[in-house]
Amino acid sequence: MKAILLEQYNSNLIELIKNLNVSNIDKPIAGDNQVLIKMKYATCNPSDIAFMRGMYNVKKNLPKALGFEGCGIVVEAGKSKDAQNLLGKRVSCFVQGDHHGTWAEFVIAKPENCIVLVDEISDQQAACLFVNPFTAYALFQIAKENKAHSILLNAGLSQVASFIRSFAKTHGIKVINIVRRDNHVELLKQQGCKYAISSRSKTYSEDLENILNLEKPSVFFDAVGGEATGQIINLLPENAKTIVYGGLSGDPIGGIDVLDIIFKNKQILGFDLNKFIKNTERKTFDELSLKLQEQIVNGDISTLIQKISTAEEVALAIRQYITRMSDGKILFTFE
Ligand SMILES: NC(=O)c1ccc[n+]([C@@H]2O[C@H](COP(=O)([O-])OP(=O)(O)OC[C@H]3O[C@@H](n4cnc5c(N)ncnc54)[C@H](OP(=O)(O)O)[C@@H]3O)[C@@H](O)[C@H]2O)c1
Repeated sequence: MKAILLEQYNSNLIELIKNLNVSNIDKPIAGDNQVLIKMKYATCNPSDIAFMRGMYNVKKNLPKALGFEGCGIVVEAGKSKDAQNLLGKRVSCFVQGDHHGTWAEFVIAKPENCIVLVDEISDQQAACLFVNPFTAYALFQIAKENKAHSILLNAGLSQVASFIRSFAKTHGIKVINIVRRDNHVELLKQQGCKYAISSRSKTYSEDLENILNLEKPSVFFDAVGGEATGQIINLLPENAKTIVYGGLSGDPIGGIDVLDIIFKNKQILGFDLNKFIKNTERKTFDELSLKLQEQIVNGDISTLIQKISTAEEVALAIRQYITRMSDGKILFTFE
């Protein structure tokens, strides 16, 4: 089968991308409690980029096909009842084990990491169903549990951020968006966002402080890290929770005022989708997956997709994605 293989980790992304190529490898065989999926589309996410660079919590014995999510048809199933139930079904999948990933013609997945798709959802939206919509949903639950009247978030034009904004809108919760480009501020304002500020603007600190004093968000969803996140935490109101769910800057969070953490009772917590899924009962997870698919089908939420790429164009596609991440996802096709 065709697969986009990672031969070795390399923190130098430009060098790494140049060497990414399509290889022909043996088609895997499904074990007892596994299914073999013929991939329709496989998604490129920030976690794939971090993984290639050796900067992710998943480490594999290389070479392995890249990719953690996508969608396709289950063409073979192991003996287990759960696997057999999926035979012939169209599914979204999420794979992180030490085997080949989704950027391949075929992928092996566990039944619990497959979502059976409703007929109405498109293959392209289904390829992006597992990771971001569930993450945004879970983060939004945290905001609701904390009775947030407003939410602060950075990487404001990411797909996760855009899902959170959609959920917040239906609940009448305000979102304070931080982006890093002036044209993205304009874009968010055109979309009707009251609060959109650029971390590169001259008046950023002052603007952020004013908004935070006014809105007092009880949760901050951080996808960036670095000194910038420390600076934001210092400006948060008393009892605010920071939920760190991404590290796009690649830098540790720094510069946090210790006294502020102690005497203003601020908390910093992590969020991991894997743990959320493991801690969610299957019945609840299936109900949630239907609800999210319904919202996608109705057009209430959707993933922005900027390019469908052949496997052969992988270097070009990833270069495009890392320079224009806010323009949407890159999907790979192997047909
Ligand atoms: N913890 C979990 O379980 C979990 C699950 C899903 C996603 N995530 C995380 O969620 C985040 C968003 O994912 P996504 O798929 O929604 O992203 P995405 O749609 O691919 O977009 C990435 C966004 O991040 C911005 N960005 C990139 N590097 C940045 C930096 N150094 N500083 C500030 N902004 C930066 C980009 O803005 P520009 O256009 O300005 O580059 C773009 O808007 C990622 O960190 C991802 O790893 C975590």
